[in-house]
Amino acid sequence: MAHLFNRNILLGVSGGIAAYKSAELVRQLQELGASVRVIMTRGAQEFITPLTLQALSGHPVHTDLLDAEAEQGMGHIELARWADLLLIAPATADILARLASGRADDLLTAAALATAAPRLLAPAMNQQMWRDPATTANVATLTARGMAFVGPASGEQACGDIGPGRLVEPAAIAEAAAALFEDGLLQGRRVVITAGPTREALDPVRYISNHSSGKMGYALAQAAVDAGARTTIVSGPVQLPAPDHTRVIAVESATQMLDRCLELLPECDIFIACAAVADYRPAATQAQKIKKGPEQISLQLVRNPDIVATVAAREQHPFTVGFAAETRDVVAYAREKLQRKGLDMIVANDVSDQSIGFNSDVNEAVVLWRDGEQALARTGKSTMARQIVQLIARHLDQGLPDRPGRDDSRK
Ligand code: C5P
Repeated sequence: MAHLFNRNILLGVSGGIAAYKSAELVRQLQELGASVRVIMTRGAQEFITPLTLQALSGHPVHTDLLDAEAEQGMGHIELARWADLLLIAPATADILARLASGRADDLLTAAALATAAPRLLAPAMNQQMWRDPATTANVATLTARGMAFVGPASGEQACGDIGPGRLVEPAAIAEAAAALFEDGLLQGRRVVITAGPTREALDPVRYISNHSSGKMGYALAQAAVDAGARTTIVSGPVQLPAPDHTRVIAVESATQMLDRCLELLPECDIFIACAAVADYRPAATQAQKIKKGPEQISLQLVRNPDIVATVAAREQHPFTVGFAAETRDVVAYAREKLQRKGLDMIVANDVSDQSIGFNSDVNEAVVLWRDGEQALARTGKSTMARQIVQLIARHLDQGLPDRPGRDDSRK
């Protein structure tokens, strides 16, 4: 169970109808063991009184940047230093815009700039405001600067609209906050992750490939390293820097990827197949560039090996995690894939939603294992990676006892 013992959470509440949920959030954070101090924007105070949050948090609520008395007590710099995490919930469209432009004209934005702690944002706003390109661009900017997001959730809104923009439930926000601090969960484990696309050569200059960016696999590698694992990425061609303390083995084709993975298996406790492996490759790769000629030419393709299924079928196989990108019946197809490929866990997402998956910085998924599943709310890929690592760690030693060949020495 994730916890927040000995953690100082600076909770920023901005002015939206969901601000009333921050009262419950304070309680949830405290239940996980955190000390909570609250900053409210002027707008937030229109929706909920500072007194409520003061009573719940057990500390005066901070509201003003230029309040001499408050600055003498715990001013914005002290608050920023005190925090192990700055959590802004709800985060309105306005606060996202002001954070993205680096403003520091109220206490919350000043503290956000002044803190070295991680920053987690739980957006809440009207669905049209969330979908507006200005908000999308602000979220991308903040994500690129390392801020983590949890949500928003989709559903009926206070204004009567239906769509994305609901504040994620306080308990799930508190869980996401706790997940940021999970470390040492994979201490001493050896993790191999496949990432990115594969390239299947037609001739010396052309290939078949796909749009995978590798971001999810690389985020998982960072999360695995942060959790204490020795981590190797077997990576197709991507435009990403190697995460700190990670070994990257560069490959091009699916068969190369399989070969490298099999070589690594004796030193692998957890195998995560995040790569978008090409299902087919040209039956023959031409030694010379194929010349333009007839109006039509045909290409014969042959099936590539299924890397994750090959690994899972090995007698001494690691805890094996796959991904499933589906456009409908996501959970049912993913469960079928979990069984057919002999996986221990599968992370499924809906790729019909253009705003998540592939090249996006955010993702939303359901994680399934043999006798359970958990939905992961829309969030930045790095936060989601930490949540996946947490789930892997939780299930690692449960494994599948009835599967032949499982290495019981790990238990
Ligand atoms: O069958 P499908 O391609 O939907 O399965 C996706 C999962 O299988 C991903 O985890 C992907 O990395 C893995 N995979 C693989 N080798 C393949 C095809 C998919 O490892 N040839």
